[in-house]
Amino acid sequence: MSNVMIIGAGGVGRVVAYKCAQHPNIFSSILIASRTPSKCDVIAADVKRDTGHQNITTAGVDAEDVPALVELIRSFQPKIVIHVALPYQDLTIMDACLEAGVHYLDTANYEPKEEAKFEYSWQWAYQDKFKAAGLTAVLGCGFDPGVTGVFTARAAKHHFDEMHYLDIVDCNAGDHGKAFATNFNPEINIREITQKGKYWENNNWVYTEPHAIKKVLNYPGIGPKDSYLLYHEELESLTKNFPTLKRARFWMTFGQEYLTHLRVIQNIGMASIEPVEFQGMEIVPLEFLKAVLPDPGSLGDNYVGETSIGCRIRGLKDGQLKDYYIWNNCSHEQAFRETGAQGVSYTTGVPAMLGAMMVLTGEWSGAGVFNVEDFNPDPFLAKLGEYGLAWHEEVGGDLEFDYPK
Ligand SMILES: NC(=O)c1ccc[n+]([C@@H]2O[C@H](COP(=O)([O-])OP(=O)(O)OC[C@H]3O[C@@H](n4cnc5c(N)ncnc54)[C@H](OP(=O)(O)O)[C@@H]3O)[C@@H](O)[C@H]2O)c1
Repeated sequence: MSNVMIIGAGGVGRVVAYKCAQHPNIFSSILIASRTPSKCDVIAADVKRDTGHQNITTAGVDAEDVPALVELIRSFQPKIVIHVALPYQDLTIMDACLEAGVHYLDTANYEPKEEAKFEYSWQWAYQDKFKAAGLTAVLGCGFDPGVTGVFTARAAKHHFDEMHYLDIVDCNAGDHGKAFATNFNPEINIREITQKGKYWENNNWVYTEPHAIKKVLNYPGIGPKDSYLLYHEELESLTKNFPTLKRARFWMTFGQEYLTHLRVIQNIGMASIEPVEFQGMEIVPLEFLKAVLPDPGSLGDNYVGETSIGCRIRGLKDGQLKDYYIWNNCSHEQAFRETGAQGVSYTTGVPAMLGAMMVLTGEWSGAGVFNVEDFNPDPFLAKLGEYGLAWHEEVGGDLEFDYPK
């Protein structure tokens, strides 16, 4: 029985709160803390009503203010902080966890506000501090990054002697009926998908123009979808942790309508993170755009369809070539019925709760900073389906990619 503190009261924070509350034997007391306390209160009231867990409190906190965070952590005494606010706050929350002596878990790697660039170096640099403190920091424990790393760890442990080719395929075939909306924080999302494409090949990073490489891929239960190569953060840790990989890529589906909106947004300068002068004040166009786009947390109501995210891997087992696919499909409607949030928040929040459960039950342990594939995938995957994200695997199917002879 432990106290858990959730930072962030967006779509993902909502799901994490529901999922923790469904396991009161592990998460006996829950604090939801975020910048806007009223959003925490709404989630707390919904979760109490729907799960019956009454030991839920809320607090307002600026997660970039380390002393304020430390004070809050010390007064609530959680065993772990689940950080599902924004990637900008990763380092300040890690600092506060170290100072207050609690474990840390997040779902997205650090990104400085002033530069649209994400990489693990800043957080991996905390390795010695977490080691010395005897604390565990789990990085990137959503779906992607997160479950995709656990899927890859399962493949390495149970299916391959050597993995050679990894393609992570992320399809959102959902329809929310809006002309343009992002499925998670618009600012973070648009920064991510307008970056140059990048993939790992023969021990080097290869760069492409944004959305320059397209392939039609078939997703189980969904069918063919235009899928675009883009850079995603788990490629950095997976290529480091599985050095036999000759190539590792990430693909995401986008509709033409979505890409047209995105191109216009970029062409007119609304995706820029350079501050501009407006009516005597400085504003950042992308931050302003976030304010006028639909709140991702509000999309769930009419959202139909499914997500399908998985890993397609070719490698060697007992000297023979082997093809392997492992994936989850998640229904937006089911996610909404259970938690009041859409599927993308759900697929992120369930693994975040489960990762925290793994740490609290000692299934995932160790002092230091870890990516999810550093841990044993088995206990995590043994529970993932039961907690809402059923997964499937297939050996020997058509992976739909070309591989060098
Ligand atoms: N790994 C994955 O698969 C995956 C997938 C999707 C999302 N994510 C990550 O999940 C996180 C949450 O996503 P979301 O869609 O829930 O985002 P969101 O709806 O924008 O929610 C973010 C929450 O963080 C709060 N916040 C922002 N700055 C803060 C600060 N300085 N101090 C305290 N709270 C602050 C916001 O408060 P306000 O309400 O006051 O703005 C809001 O409640 C993001 O980091 C995103 O990158 C990961």
